[in-house]
Amino acid sequence: MWKTIPEITLSDGLTLPVIGLGTYTLKGKEGVNSILSAIDTGYRLIDSAYNYENEGTVGEAIRRSSAPREELKITSKLPGRYQTYDKAVTTIHESLYRANLDYYDVYLIHWPNPNQNTYIEAWQALIDAKKGGLIRSIGVCNFLPEHIERLEKETGVKPSMNQIELHPYFNQASQRKWHEENNIVTESWSPLARANEVLQNDALQQIANRHNKSISQVILRWHYQLGAISIPKSASFERQLENISIFDFSLEETDMSLISGLTRPEGRINNQDPATYEEF
Ligand SMILES: NC(=O)c1ccc[n+]([C@@H]2O[C@H](COP(=O)([O-])OP(=O)(O)OC[C@H]3O[C@@H](n4cnc5c(N)ncnc54)[C@H](OP(=O)(O)O)[C@@H]3O)[C@@H](O)[C@H]2O)c1
Repeated sequence: MWKTIPEITLSDGLTLPVIGLGTYTLKGKEGVNSILSAIDTGYRLIDSAYNYENEGTVGEAIRRSSAPREELKITSKLPGRYQTYDKAVTTIHESLYRANLDYYDVYLIHWPNPNQNTYIEAWQALIDAKKGGLIRSIGVCNFLPEHIERLEKETGVKPSMNQIELHPYFNQASQRKWHEENNIVTESWSPLARANEVLQNDALQQIANRHNKSISQVILRWHYQLGAISIPKSASFERQLENISIFDFSLEETDMSLISGLTRPEGRINNQDPATYEEF
């Protein structure tokens, strides 16, 4: 199955599948079983974070899985409280030790925390860790264009990707366009809007019926056709399989516009605007 998931090439040459597994809340023994089931189902991209306290769970699933390490693409993220150069370096090592890995495929700064104003030195630590072979590709999450412009201006290095909140109620059209113009891949977090009422939307149900698919599949196909990588989280084997079974149909332009048209100015799930929201 995994060979049928299309891939996207980042600006630094790393290739990633267009769908990965979100792991927020997947922890411990049950978490290991869920991640193993996802790998068996065909997932090869796994999204973790220091703050999810599950890098160990991800590492254990990798250790038990029969998939070779080089087939897997593992992501983790630097938390706000360790956004100084020295703390970021130590945290990258700690993230690797927790997962028992030699390298992360992708390592991201979790939030810009603009008031804290230390993301430039944290970015320098990621740049140096990449040079040292600990990370293959470096990127950010929740960065606005002005934050990314500063990274490039002050270090000369642009992120390969930006992981942002993106779902039909918050379609991020202008941020996505800016990414495209700057050769930065968009990765969608909460791609199913955390299974909120969007999964009961009538218009989406009609599109789903026409294609004999579920609303979740229609939404994940929409992400794919937008050119974004999505990382839906599911603990269940059935829903994991459902979520990657989206490559045997396509949405017409009218469907794409209708789904994008569901966006709302206040569509964020928890009102986490990166211009002001900070996470540590
Ligand atoms: N960078 C950041 O700041 C940031 C922020 C938030 C999230 N993330 C990452 O993005 C990942 C995904 O986001 P998320 O976990 O917030 O939300 P999500 O993937 O949009 O939704 C997850 C929820 O949807 C349910 N679900 C999954 N597939 C389904 C299906 N086919 N039908 C019905 N329900 C389904 C899951 O339940 P079951 O598990 O029971 O299936 C779970 O409750 C996270 O896990 C995390 O890795 C990053």
